[in-house]
Amino acid sequence: MKGIILAGGTGTRLYPLTHAINKHLLPIYDKPLIYYPIATLMLANIREILIITRSEDVELYKSVLGHGQQWGLKIDYAIQDQPRGIAEAVIIGEKFINAEPFALILGDNLFFGHGFKSMLHEASQNRQGATIFCYWVVDPQRFGVAELDKYNQVISLEEKPQSPKSNYAVTGLYFYDAQAVEFAKQLKPSLRGELEITDLNRIYLEKGLLKSVNLHRGFAWLDTGTHESLMDAGNYIATIEKRQGLKVACLEEIAWRNNWITDMEFLSCYENNKGSSYGSYLKQIFHIGKGSDDSSIIEKIA
Ligand code: DAU
Repeated sequence: MKGIILAGGTGTRLYPLTHAINKHLLPIYDKPLIYYPIATLMLANIREILIITRSEDVELYKSVLGHGQQWGLKIDYAIQDQPRGIAEAVIIGEKFINAEPFALILGDNLFFGHGFKSMLHEASQNRQGATIFCYWVVDPQRFGVAELDKYNQVISLEEKPQSPKSNYAVTGLYFYDAQAVEFAKQLKPSLRGELEITDLNRIYLEKGLLKSVNLHRGFAWLDTGTHESLMDAGNYIATIEKRQGLKVACLEEIAWRNNWITDMEFLSCYENNKGSSYGSYLKQIFHIGKGSDDSSIIEKIA
């Protein structure tokens, strides 16, 4: 399966931080924000990734991520000149999608929690229809909102409603079958002038082809759209990493444990990050070796 990361937009809500730097390259504690959605796709076993961003930012992205070979990935880039909406990513990505099922993730969404890998695996096995992930939030009016029945099936979808019908936000991670491209082409811009991802999801809903997965209450879904949420996300990652001594969204570690890169390639990633605590972590886990599960790694680190 392939994956698209939408990482364009103007980042106006983060000015002056984003006057010169694309929002998705800003730090979330010890790594750029874009690492987190890349890690999510890697956990879904996705190695072919299209990053959609503004033309003026492509070179910067390339200097941070290159084409992803260092992580056993193939990263390509495409341009979205204006933020004409999230669903436009599907149209821009048509050639890359190549009439196959794919995942789409927003570049500013960060997921972390137990059982995520198996949820991703299951969603990627669903070859027909679409899968969305819902999360209970205190402020649903800021998001796409799903109304669910008692079986957790979606009844309605609304984008940023003033009076939300539930507290379930639709997160920025979507799995689609190949029909998404044709459906996206049928969309009309909303009042705010965007091709809304909620409208695309509603087409799947109306055809009875939309599956929804609830992310449980112990799970973390963070967005990073404001100064405050950016800071919160950084603090959250710092707290988890310091507590466990294990990194979240360490791309080298995921690639190495998946055997997508050799020991030598892993060591060259270490050389590249030498001198930082991130680099020291790579060295540390290399010496420990690949444990069979998380608990054996934790025991060895302790
Ligand atoms: O975070 C989840 C929410 O994301 C969903 O619940 C909403 O249904 C969905 O519309 C979206 O809402 P936001 O208001 O958070 O979208 P925002 O405009 O902030 O854009 C989200 C990311 O996508 C951000 O990293 C910028 C990027 N983007 C957005 C648009 C509209 C683009 O690259 N191009 C675009 O045209």
